[in-house]
Amino acid sequence: RLPVVVLISGNGSNLQALIDAERAGELPVELRAVVSSRGGAYGLERAAAAGIPTAVLRPKDYPDRERYDAALRDCLDRLNPGLVVLAGFMRILGDRFVAAFEGRLVNIHPSLLPAFRGLHTHERALAAGVAEHGCSVHYVIPELDAGPVIAQAAVAVEPDDTPQTLQQKVQAEEHRLYPLAVRWIAEGRVTMRDGRVWMDGQPLAVPPRL
Ligand code: GAR
Repeated sequence: RLPVVVLISGNGSNLQALIDAERAGELPVELRAVVSSRGGAYGLERAAAAGIPTAVLRPKDYPDRERYDAALRDCLDRLNPGLVVLAGFMRILGDRFVAAFEGRLVNIHPSLLPAFRGLHTHERALAAGVAEHGCSVHYVIPELDAGPVIAQAAVAVEPDDTPQTLQQKVQAEEHRLYPLAVRWIAEGRVTMRDGRVWMDGQPLAVPPRL
């Protein structure tokens, strides 16, 4: 079973989806630890309830990004995960950190990348008047939200949608999408090589919509 460490900052609903999938026998991973950048993150309670060890590493306890990233790296090196899963980890990781975990670091982003990198994606999708919106699971590279996409899920944007309703619809898809994408990695079906996603031995031309 692939050892996985999940990094969170908040509610941890995506963490919960991974826990539930693992418990249901649908995700061949060992959830080895959850690391949060915030002490009060509800996701820490979810992890504790599932019997998963937790750690808190707060940026404000470190003088700068370099040293925060180094501490996080030390923490992860001790845990020795085969895969690091960012699940609402609201902290940009520096190039050296990303390079150290390249190919073993994935993120879920609330948009159909390459559209709407960065923050406030639901507001921006509404303002742009797009007909569809969604979420993407991608490998992390130094450039923010720019890594190769493994899989996506889409929702229709309705005229009466608000940022809140869109967020709810997209998050429901996230909870389906992330366990599936992590499963493919755990099964060895998906890897990153030469900056591309490979699936079943073929370079992925277009990420699947699930
Ligand atoms: C998720 O919707 C995720 O897509 C988003 O944060 C939320 C965390 O929710 N991530 C980002 O915006 C990354 N830039 P959760 O804590 O309930 O899983």
